[in-house]
Amino acid sequence: MEKTILFYEGKAKKVFLTTDPKVVMVQYKDDATAFNGLKKGQIAGKGIVNNKCSNHLFQMLEKHGIETHLIEEISDTETFVKKVEIVPIEVIVRNIAAGSLSKRLNIPEGTALSITVLEFCYKNDELGDPMINDYHALAMNLATQIELEIIKSISFKVNSLLREYLSDIYIDLIDFKLEFGRYDGKIILADEISPDTCRFWDSKTKEKLDKDRFRRDLGGVEDAYKEVLSRLIGAK
Ligand code: TMP
Repeated sequence: MEKTILFYEGKAKKVFLTTDPKVVMVQYKDDATAFNGLKKGQIAGKGIVNNKCSNHLFQMLEKHGIETHLIEEISDTETFVKKVEIVPIEVIVRNIAAGSLSKRLNIPEGTALSITVLEFCYKNDELGDPMINDYHALAMNLATQIELEIIKSISFKVNSLLREYLSDIYIDLIDFKLEFGRYDGKIILADEISPDTCRFWDSKTKEKLDKDRFRRDLGGVEDAYKEVLSRLIGAK
């Protein structure tokens, strides 16, 4: 299999078609954005960390029965994945209050939530990915009722598996974002799971090991990303 033409370029990844119509190649970039593209920068080595981190976690999830788009890592920043039709819904799962939830509901960051919270956002940059509920998703035909139920059930399962796995390497999973795709009539996990798309806090020091270091100009961004990858690799 070989990559052919550029199919799509997003904020953090490029997607290339390949000689196999059912496969695309994702290439992770060092480019970083926040606040819907308002803040732009580069995080040296981010492409490598996110590619390897995401593939590592997808492999772990696959072992526990979660189907993902992962096919094969082909270089430090490039991976062959199944060509899915992305469901235009971003699923956010929250265990601990942080970020936009803390702001919207005035709950201090770090407050444990009594139950895991699941939110849907409409994946639309022009609108700034607004939060929606099941009714909006159905009204806009973003997914069917059955698909929404499958997406919610996989998301909660991913949360349990990730939390347990990360706790062994002293990382608290505060919240994260998932995206799903349609492939061969099934809903499978797509996109990435990385310090760009999760909040990871060191369990002991509560130090942030994720993109909030970039969003909030906390410094030590590259080191935090590398720290997550090195803990994951050590966890094998
Ligand atoms: P939020 O608190 O800003 O809503 O973010 C919740 C989680 O979703 C956090 O782990 C970061 C992730 N996220 C993305 O992956 N992409 C995005 O565009 C946003 C806004 C958040």
